[in-house]
Amino acid sequence: MFGRAARRGLVGLVGTAALLSVAACSSGGGGETGAGGGGGDDLIRVGFSQLGAESGWRTANTESVKESLTEENGFDLTFVDAQQKQENQIKALRDFVAQDVDVIAFSPVIETGWDEVLQEIKDAGIPVVLVDRTVDTTVEDPYVTWIGADFEQEGTTAGEWVAANAPDAKVFELQGTLGSGAQVDREEGFNAVVGDQVIGKASGNFTRAEGKTAVEAALQAYPETTLIFSHNDDMGLGAIEAIEAAGKVPGKDIQLVTVDGVRDGLQALVDKKFNYVVECNPVFGDQLAELITAVANGEDVPETTIVVDEAFDQTITQDEVDARAY
Ligand code: AHR
Repeated sequence: MFGRAARRGLVGLVGTAALLSVAACSSGGGGETGAGGGGGDDLIRVGFSQLGAESGWRTANTESVKESLTEENGFDLTFVDAQQKQENQIKALRDFVAQDVDVIAFSPVIETGWDEVLQEIKDAGIPVVLVDRTVDTTVEDPYVTWIGADFEQEGTTAGEWVAANAPDAKVFELQGTLGSGAQVDREEGFNAVVGDQVIGKASGNFTRAEGKTAVEAALQAYPETTLIFSHNDDMGLGAIEAIEAAGKVPGKDIQLVTVDGVRDGLQALVDKKFNYVVECNPVFGDQLAELITAVANGEDVPETTIVVDEAFDQTITQDEVDARAY
């Protein structure tokens, strides 16, 4: 299995958002492969299980995937939104097996609990492309290739900003969905740098509403909080509401460091309510389409494709935010 360990330390956060393919390759076939996407009227039949629509990031990622996996580009896409429920994803994956699609792609809501269904997919000879998040499974070679961001590096970058700019801050950590690759790895990266500054943590499940609720409770439990590290922009935006309702000034009384870089998050940075945003780029539909085509054709593909992110501070301009694609 690759996944978290293989992604550790692969890349830094540099430059504009771009894709870096890691050189190690694996066979795209893995046994039976689907209809060749290479020619004629053959469409590649893809079952894509998206984990939900919990955040601005997810919405942008879904749009990117749908814009790329079109009939015009050679795909017959079945897209299913799991509404952040693992049981819905498992059902969708089993439906894809029953439909005998050529390739299954999915973004797992949490890391564990996939052994049975991954084995069923493997037994059916359908190659899996893992998208965005990672799995932790006992199944051998459970997927052909994975594309996503280096979550641990994102947490590290956030921690380095805190260490350099707020070394005395008392930090509350607003975690994403517990047990998800994004939560586990961002927390690991951040805590490796400034874990000794963290005075409390709770999950806001990557949504604005639950982020707000978690911060309302945190401000009661940890009134000494001076900085919140939020695992995504949406929860950070919910935190702004909770902080203002408590009569405090976000960005000043309580600093906010977030991950994602969606337009609403960057607007909060321009408005000086967020202090630092580490990007997690959701727009990789074209690269996913290339990988799926190669996998369907039994070609070699990289084991991992890391979406490289950048980071933003309050020097970002309104023009840059207005030009943001998502
Ligand atoms: O897995 C990526 C994360 O999932 C994004 O940071 C978050 O906004 C989304 O819900």
